[in-house]
Amino acid sequence: DIEALVWIVAAYLIGSIAFGIIISKLYRLPDPRTVGSGNIGATNVARSGKKSAAILTLLGDAFKGWLPVWLALHAGMLMDVVALVGLAVFLGHLFPLYHKFKGGKGVATALGVMIAFSGWLALSVLAVWLLVFAVSRISSLSALVAAALSPLIAWQFLSPYPVYVAVVVVMAACLIIRHQSNIEKLLAGTETRFGKK
Ligand code: G3P
Repeated sequence: DIEALVWIVAAYLIGSIAFGIIISKLYRLPDPRTVGSGNIGATNVARSGKKSAAILTLLGDAFKGWLPVWLALHAGMLMDVVALVGLAVFLGHLFPLYHKFKGGKGVATALGVMIAFSGWLALSVLAVWLLVFAVSRISSLSALVAAALSPLIAWQFLSPYPVYVAVVVVMAACLIIRHQSNIEKLLAGTETRFGKK
């Protein structure tokens, strides 16, 4: 119905807001699309050396994933609509209306959507990311492992809500596909590692 469609379109438009581009502009950093991996996410903003800018990008991109799903839940929307709202905000980040549909890889935004679905799911997936990052210092590898395990973890916490599990599976698949250049670099041994302090 119309109300559901409005929610889904609004979620897509919110997802299209690229915090990496906005925050970099506010900090007078180079546009993330022109440096490093060219990605608009927190990892690539971090390569500028401004940690706070990277953290704000992470928080912004995660917050925008969480917000519409949380609002839809609390507005009492049907579960299927809530699930589509989550998928729409994630796809907005990947294919943003305001940036010629050239968006990010979806790590932070997927995390935000998962926080709204289930705090335990999000915490567990985040723990996997942190663990892999602590060992490897590679952001993309951490995201790939966390994404690969996320369907299993989602099933663990969300088995009564298979439509949310389905959204997690689709997000994980899209996220992995978006990391194609990272996978190539990982296999070639040339992926960027963050230095230990
Ligand atoms: O969040 C995306 C991350 O997993 C990889 O980013 O800039 O290294 O391609 P990047």
